[in-house]
Amino acid sequence: MFTKRMFVIFLLFSGFAAIVNSCDKEEDSPAPDPNPMPSTEFVAADSDFAGFRTWKVVVDLKNALSDDGRAHTDAARTVWIKQANAVLGQNGQYPIGTILVKEVQGGYGIVAMVKRGGTYNSSHNGWEWFHLDTAGKITSRNSSSVCNNCHAKVKSADYVFTR
Ligand code: HEC
Repeated sequence: MFTKRMFVIFLLFSGFAAIVNSCDKEEDSPAPDPNPMPSTEFVAADSDFAGFRTWKVVVDLKNALSDDGRAHTDAARTVWIKQANAVLGQNGQYPIGTILVKEVQGGYGIVAMVKRGGTYNSSHNGWEWFHLDTAGKITSRNSSSVCNNCHAKVKSADYVFTR
């Protein structure tokens, strides 16, 4: 016979089941992004370049000649991106916080571009240009017109040549 007490126990169990179920659903939600994107302005620090040689390689140009003389040099060079899955957004730009690093062999050094956003270098899509030392520490940063102007050849790809 289905007594009142059984009914209460039944209610308790179904409530318990609902809680367990809702916990399951939370576990199904995507894992937090390891490199979450800031939404307004991103001011890079040394630590943001840490381990850049372990990032996703965009191109590895060993003995490759620069395409119609545009590149910094013909020396062997590698480009990495920190956010492996970054894509151009609806505004035609990479998300704020996107970081690309290019290392050139033969003493030329390491350059980087960071999507800083906000009002920074807004006439060139908010990119900040960097030189890094071999340990990945920032040695200079600016909105250099030299960098702006040559990278503007690929304005339609948000100033990024290789991706
Ligand atoms: C004369 C043209 C030219 C100038 C000036 C120039 N770049 Fe580049 N840059 C290139 C080309 C071409 C590539 C594509 C990779 C390659 O062929 O080496 C590139 C690649 C890069 C990349 C990798 C991301 C990408 O666009 O593919 C970074 C980062 C970068 N340059 C930073 C800089 C910085 C910082 C400056 C200014 C100090 C600068 N560049 C000035 C032509 C230029």
